[in-house]
Amino acid sequence: MEMQHPVLKRTAKVVHGKNDKLAIQYMGQEVTLEGAAAKLFDKMLPFLDGNTGIGGIAERISESPKRLQSLTQQLGKTGVLGFKDADNGERITGEQFYEIHRTYVNDWLQPIYDHPFWERVVTGKATRAQVLGFAFEKYHYIEGAFEHMAIAAANATPEMMPHLARHFIEEYNHGDIYRKGLQSLFPNDLILRAQPLPSTRALVNFLSESAARNSFGYYAGNELLQMTENTGEDTDNDSINDFYDAMRKHYPYTDKVIDAFIAHTNADQKLGHENVFLEMCQSIPPLTRTEVDDALNIVRSMAEHLYLFMDGIDTFYARFPTIPRAPCDLLSE
Ligand SMILES: [Fe+2]
Repeated sequence: MEMQHPVLKRTAKVVHGKNDKLAIQYMGQEVTLEGAAAKLFDKMLPFLDGNTGIGGIAERISESPKRLQSLTQQLGKTGVLGFKDADNGERITGEQFYEIHRTYVNDWLQPIYDHPFWERVVTGKATRAQVLGFAFEKYHYIEGAFEHMAIAAANATPEMMPHLARHFIEEYNHGDIYRKGLQSLFPNDLILRAQPLPSTRALVNFLSESAARNSFGYYAGNELLQMTENTGEDTDNDSINDFYDAMRKHYPYTDKVIDAFIAHTNADQKLGHENVFLEMCQSIPPLTRTEVDDALNIVRSMAEHLYLFMDGIDTFYARFPTIPRAPCDLLSE
């Protein structure tokens, strides 16, 4: 029993209600406790950091280890609690990781899907600069594949190398597809000299840094980004199409830009990119807990960088309407 060190999941949130009730919110679900169980959990809470065994916690809060064991086991089944030492030496297969990844990613992408920018475009409230800024930043981000995919292939493990090399070869010129769309509105040399926002660079930089350090974790993070474009799910594709339709309606001058967005999604789908991550997961050796933690932390941070990317477009172009952003020169203020 002492070997089990219960730990409350990092993203779980404990909300205290009335009459000794409490709720633990985690991954879009809610576990509620009341009465004696809620009181016991409250007493245990300061020790649920994975550093103290159940026996040790029982001693500190003067409770029976059996009661603690029973409550932590039940909470463990709901997923809100983990046990640090319970899976010592245990490995999970790449396919199991793939399933875990799907569950987490769908939850972590939620704030991005809820970002007010989408609504602003769909209702026609976004400014011209915000809409074109979105197109430019997307171009800069896709152009970034040239950087991070090459770094990933160069630093890959033997199992990951063929997948990453193939993906790089297929993706490195996809920025050109976006550039063609922008050429309907801007001269080519202006597009080539345009500067990405710092928030867009932060996303590309984080991809490059992860690619150099952990090729599997990098791709797990890249997969989160790809899932916002080619989900393979008809319902999600419908909502992406609805977004483009609304954009065409309110901002007719973006017609060719949207054609480029769609041409890119079609190009990725033709190359079967929605299956690449599953193929990688099937070919890697089983993962240790540390490897799983590292990869999932990259994925989580990628979601945060993607949110920052959206925020950058939304806030910067609302205040500075000059499109595109030109590099600084001696005449810049
Ligand atoms: Fe692509």
